[in-house]
This record gives sequence, structure tokens and C-alpha cells, in this order.
Amino acid sequence: MGADSAALRGEALAAVAGAKDGEQLAALERQYLGKEGAVGQLMGALRALPPAERARAGQEANELKRAVEGALAERRAELARARLDAERSAVGFDPTLPPAPAPRGSLHPLTHVVRRLEEVFSAMGYAILDGPEVELDYYNFEALNIPADHPAREMHDTFWCDREQKLLMRTHTSPVQIRALERLKPPFRAIVPGRCFRNETTDASHEHTFHQMEGLVVGEGLTVGHLIGTMKTFLREAFRREVEVRLRPGYFPFVEPGFELDVRCPFCTDGCSVCKRSTWIELCPCGMVHPRVLKYGGVDSERYTGFAFGLGLSRLVMLRYGIDDIRHLMAADLRFLGQF
Ligand code: FA5
Repeated sequence: MGADSAALRGEALAAVAGAKDGEQLAALERQYLGKEGAVGQLMGALRALPPAERARAGQEANELKRAVEGALAERRAELARARLDAERSAVGFDPTLPPAPAPRGSLHPLTHVVRRLEEVFSAMGYAILDGPEVELDYYNFEALNIPADHPAREMHDTFWCDREQKLLMRTHTSPVQIRALERLKPPFRAIVPGRCFRNETTDASHEHTFHQMEGLVVGEGLTVGHLIGTMKTFLREAFRREVEVRLRPGYFPFVEPGFELDVRCPFCTDGCSVCKRSTWIELCPCGMVHPRVLKYGGVDSERYTGFAFGLGLSRLVMLRYGIDDIRHLMAADLRFLGQF
């Protein structure tokens, strides 16, 4: 090795080994390997050498270049490691460790039950409908045979959005009955799972925001027998077992005759806060669609009959999973929700 090139090598490697940071390394890279750098000049000088010496000197220059490049890369890696070590001890944690696994979400119990019911009813040929939560008085009351002065309005403690525009938060899913009658040609079957709102005091079985699932079937020759058969089938499927139910007369202006379907309270044998000490839980009022409602929906009430039901979906969820207070459902407490 020529004396020039050996001295340059020694100087360059010592300088690289002593570099304190990336900036110094970049400057050294320019100084030795840049176009005007020391190694560059050595290579430039090759042309002036006699051919016999040129090959050997060229090889030496190339080796020198590779040695300086290697030293630069090694020093860069060393400095990076040292920086990481310093960060680790400064912040007190190891940034190279893999992150803790992100917690996985789970489905809301209401979603589980709605999906199951949608399966059951789809298999029976029902369409699944939706409707607006901010509703017109006309659909929520008027067209359901509950005119402005009707006492039945008092049973629906209504959140009004705009009284002048007659806009309200729907108090039940029944307004979608009228929207379905307007849009679908009989015969048809439909369910409407959705949120409802009532301005009432909450307790273990009452919420201001809760879920119902409306059912509406319209066709020729439908009777109370069809209604009861449907109720029994879907309750068996929803609970995946026989449940004790009772049917008693109930009054709703939009059905005639109307019924209350109650389920035996699973939380007690002699009365509790969920069943209001009665051992029965009101779950699914139902009845034959009032001919006036069919007319409001533009359906020939001489030719067609229908039945409807308004399942208390939140209560069904409570019964299905043994939840003894409805307020858990909307409280957004992950300790509760994580169980389903
Ligand atoms: C109605 O809302 C009628 N639209 C149901 C209906 C539909 C009758 C079709 C006939 C034909 P009601 O106000 O009873 O009815 O409510 C129906 C069910 O919703 C109740 O049985 C109960 O299970 C549930 N429910 C009512 N209010 C609340 C509340 N504040 N919190 C939780 N669930 C409630």
C-alpha cells in the first residue's frame, strides 16, 4: 500500500471513529468520499500514473473507499444504538417492546337479540324496515287513530322537538306501520326494530330511551289465530325455550281487538321491582289492525285485514340475559357490556 493512501486511511478511520453525531459523520463523508474529497482526489490522480502502477493504485483506492464507507455505516449504527439506550433510560420504558394488545370490543346485548329476531322473522318471510326517530305528529299519533284530543296521548309522555311544526321524538315504533302501509302493497309482513323515546321517570323497567320492535302483517283473511300463532313461534325462538305467557285484553286506539301479552317474571316468584310486584312483565302488546289505520295507510280495509305487535325489545333483552335493571343497557359501562 502506498504511503499516501495508508496515511489517509488511518486518518479517515480515526476521524470516523471519533465522530460524535450524524452531522459530523455527514461532514466526514463529504470530506473523504465527496467529489472533491480526499479519496476522490486520489482516484482522480490515477490517470496521471504510468499504466503499470495504475492497476495496483486503483485497487488500493477502491479498497480505501470501501473501508471508509464501512466505517461510516458502522459508526452510524453505533450512534443510533447509543441514542436508543439513552432514550430508554431517560423515559424509563423500552420503546422496542411490542405494544400491549388493543382491547377487543363486543356486541351490545340488544344487537345480539335484534340479529336473532331478524333471523327468525326473515325465515318467516318478513321484511326488515326502518323509520325516522324524529317523527311527525301525524305518523306517531294522528294516522294511528290517536287525534289531538285523544286521552291515549297521555300514555305517551312525549319529547317534543318543535310543537308548531308538530315534530317529536317517536314514542313507539308504530308510526312505521303507516309508512309501511303507504309504501308496500299488501300482502306483506314486516318488522321494525328501533329506538323510542319517552319523557318519563326511569326505574328498573322504564327508560327514557328504549327499544321496541314493531311487527305488521297485512293480507286477506288474517285472524287473531294467526296473531297468537306468530307470537308463540317468535317467543319460543327468541328465548330458545318455552316461556310462560298470558294474553289479556288491552286498549290501543290503532288495534281492535287489542291485547297485552305478558311473560312470567324470571327474577322472582312472588314479585320484585322489575315486575312491579305482579310476577308478570308486560312485553308485547298486539292486536288486529284497526280498519281506520288501514284507510289512513291507503289500504282497502274491506278486502284486507292485518295484525300488529309492539315488542318491548329492551325488556326482552333483560329477560333473555337475566338483566335486572333496564338502565344498564344505555349506561355505556364497559364492565357491563364486556360480558356479552
Ligand atoms: C306501544 O308502544 C304500542 N305502540 C304497542 C303496540 C303496537 C300495540 C302494535 C298494538 C299493536 P306500550 O306503550 O305499551 O305500547 O309499549 C309497548 C312495550 O314497550 C311495553 O310493553 C314495554 O315492554 C315497552 N316499553 C314501553 N315503555 C317503555 C319504557 N319507558 N322503557 C322500556 N320499555 C318500555
